[in-house]
Amino acid sequence: MKTITLTQFLIEEQRAKGEIKPDLRLLLEVVARACKRISIAVGKGALGGVLGDAGTSNIQDEAQKKLDVLSNEILLQANAWGGHLAGLASEEMDEPSAIPDEYPKGGYLLLFDPLDGSSNIDVNVSVGTIFSVLRCPEGVSGSEEKAFLQPGTTQVAAGYAVYGPSTMLILTVGSGVHAFTLDREQGSFVLTERDMMIPEDTKEIAINASNERHWEAPVQRYVKECFEGKEGVRGKDFNMRWVASMVADVHRIVTRGGVFMYPLDAKTVKQGGKLRLMYEANPMSFIIEQAGGVASTGRERIMDMQPHKLHQRVPVIMGSKNEVEKVVSYHAS
Ligand code: AHG
Ligand code: MN
Ligand code: MN
Repeated sequence: MKTITLTQFLIEEQRAKGEIKPDLRLLLEVVARACKRISIAVGKGALGGVLGDAGTSNIQDEAQKKLDVLSNEILLQANAWGGHLAGLASEEMDEPSAIPDEYPKGGYLLLFDPLDGSSNIDVNVSVGTIFSVLRCPEGVSGSEEKAFLQPGTTQVAAGYAVYGPSTMLILTVGSGVHAFTLDREQGSFVLTERDMMIPEDTKEIAINASNERHWEAPVQRYVKECFEGKEGVRGKDFNMRWVASMVADVHRIVTRGGVFMYPLDAKTVKQGGKLRLMYEANPMSFIIEQAGGVASTGRERIMDMQPHKLHQRVPVIMGSKNEVEKVVSYHAS
């Protein structure tokens, strides 16, 4: 099989479609390199001294794990010097981070969830990194929150790395979704699937069912009907999976279909949901839509939402088209 590395893929896409300008290519390669470093740290586990709590909390009042903090630092360091960014924002930083004065500034904004699935770190279950790329608006500094407050439809690129049995990087620049697998011997990401497509129908749902009593009626109805199986109105048996790392759950869905739901519930209604719009829901929605799926809050398309703050939360229902549309139709009725 002819090996196509991430670098070669990006250059060839630029030649063929003119979509990946050198600055964006540098950005994506730098992010991929940072993900490689995070993958190495995750892989060392207890031997690397990276497990356990950092002893600090982030702005969302969540205890930070050592790997949350380390992954954030790796992404910051990797991206500071290249001259491709105007600013960075992260789940683990209260405010956007400016590019240090000694380095030139570029036109892009990078947002990330440096380590997704923190509750899985200490139990050796898959975790990941999620990222979103925006253009910095003219006349606004990339260290200001308002530069980042753009709907998901304006994303230039998005992706995630999943640190599982193998490390993979899944990427979109707005023309399909492509998967790269880390060749650990060569140290490079190699293209392993082009144009991933999510089947429109599925028999697999992903939701934290322990929250059932807190869900809104449309989601309770949908899940109940799925669980009734062959004997119920759906007339087929459904399976359920919940890794509790959004990256791992969404990766399964991008690979073989399914619906991922972290819907609005009574526990999170005040804050608008559990997952974060700018660096979890938007980039994953971009991937899901580019792979033929649908991503909604239940009431509106996630990527159409006008954000009003950096760490805004949002209900998330995404995946196989026909199932997500069914959940949305239950919200409408
Ligand atoms: P993070 O580790 O970045 O804070 O994100 C965790 C998120 C997401 O990855 C996952 O789907 C969800 O939290 C799991 O939540 P529950 O523990 O409530 O199931
Ligand atoms: Mn996360
Ligand atoms: Mn995280």
